[in-house]
Amino acid sequence: MRLQKAAVVGAGAMGSGIACVLSQLGIEVLLKDVDQAFVDRGVSNIKRMYDSRVKKASLTQEQADQHMALIKGTTSYDDFKDVDIVIEAAFEEISVKLDIFKTLDRICPPHAILASNTSALSISEIAAATQRPDKVVGMHFFNPAQFMKLVEVIPGVKTSRETVEAAIELCKSARKTPIEVEECPGFLVNRVLFTYMNEAVHALQEGLADVATIDEQVVAQGLPMGPFALFDLTGVDVCAHVNTFLHQQYGPRFSPAPLLKKMVEAKMLGQKTGVGFYVHSKDQVKGEAKPINPELQKLIAQVDSECKTSKKGQSRPFSPDRVLLPMFNEALYCLQEKVVQADDINTGMRSGCGFKFSLLELADKKGLAQTLQDILAYHQEQGERFRPSWLLTKLVAAGVQSLKNEKEKTLQAVK
Ligand SMILES: NC(=O)c1ccc[n+]([C@@H]2O[C@H](COP(=O)([O-])OP(=O)(O)OC[C@H]3O[C@@H](n4cnc5c(N)ncnc54)[C@H](O)[C@@H]3O)[C@@H](O)[C@H]2O)c1
Repeated sequence: MRLQKAAVVGAGAMGSGIACVLSQLGIEVLLKDVDQAFVDRGVSNIKRMYDSRVKKASLTQEQADQHMALIKGTTSYDDFKDVDIVIEAAFEEISVKLDIFKTLDRICPPHAILASNTSALSISEIAAATQRPDKVVGMHFFNPAQFMKLVEVIPGVKTSRETVEAAIELCKSARKTPIEVEECPGFLVNRVLFTYMNEAVHALQEGLADVATIDEQVVAQGLPMGPFALFDLTGVDVCAHVNTFLHQQYGPRFSPAPLLKKMVEAKMLGQKTGVGFYVHSKDQVKGEAKPINPELQKLIAQVDSECKTSKKGQSRPFSPDRVLLPMFNEALYCLQEKVVQADDINTGMRSGCGFKFSLLELADKKGLAQTLQDILAYHQEQGERFRPSWLLTKLVAAGVQSLKNEKEKTLQAVK
């Protein structure tokens, strides 16, 4: 598809990043929001993104000016009549998205692709609000969109192959790394990542190690930051919401750690409220370790007294396996459900989350059989969050020891 004009709906954090990415393709980009003040904020954000690239000499001032000149802020749909693609990045509420897609379908030309940057809502449901479900697709960018390489491309039930390929092609021309993901709750990356985030809170509640120790041990395994630093950066409330959603969709494998709810109630939401798992203050000296939130212990004590299923005193000492194995296991669930191809799991976790290792090769050192035994031991100790995927059980029964060497033969056969 030859793109000449694109539009982005929603000029917030994601919308402005996506508009910035599109403007670098040398095409006209409309950036729409509901209020002129939000449009102006989005356009200034993009200007700041370009200014910072000029400062770092990765772009000349002339190039930055040319890209900026392609962005037109608007509060109306008037200029949408000749767009080739729209990427929606408005609020994560289904009623908002359904309204937007109904309007887009009415106004945009018949050939236009309508994409949504939703993190979790159903692409098939959004597509059903239009008369062109074949041209509706999920394009899940990661934050900040102007830097992060990964884009999950998610077809809905009725999305055509042509639309999926056009979305993939667009990502590639914008120098992004697209992976195609079957529509499922959490898509690939959030689904896999939240098993780890949630498990870290369970381990913390059990008193196996403190916040900083768990973060440090995990970072030593090749993750760019520990789970608690990530909670505080993303927002404890946002993460708790995603976790609850995944629990509703997948059941006990995602049983939320009760401490999360307590933290949301206490407004300990992370960086945005100044306190989460850590204390964040403006006086913090750069490079110095942030103090752990001293109030956490009180909340954990409340969880202990209220929660009858607490495993306190019954668990083994903390090991990074406790939080890494659930991710590995969930990745195999994704494979057995044909959500993605094997290689895309490694690509997704590297480009979307900055993993310095390949998730599917996590088990290579000790072998798949030992990995399954370890997951089963946690299953006995912790319950359903560690139920092994049948794909893992099957591979071990077949004598497969490493997914690295088997990727071509065995795992591609799962497709
Ligand atoms: N923030 C993230 O880390 C992240 C990552 C990936 C995907 N997403 C998804 O991207 C979308 C946007 O998230 P965000 O973080 O940029 O939100 P945000 O709150 O920063 O921005 C949303 C913008 O949409 C505007 N808006 C709301 N209704 C609108 C409408 N009817 N028409 C036009 N504009 C409208 C709002 O005024 C606001 O400026 C959500 O679906 C979110 O789930 C967010």
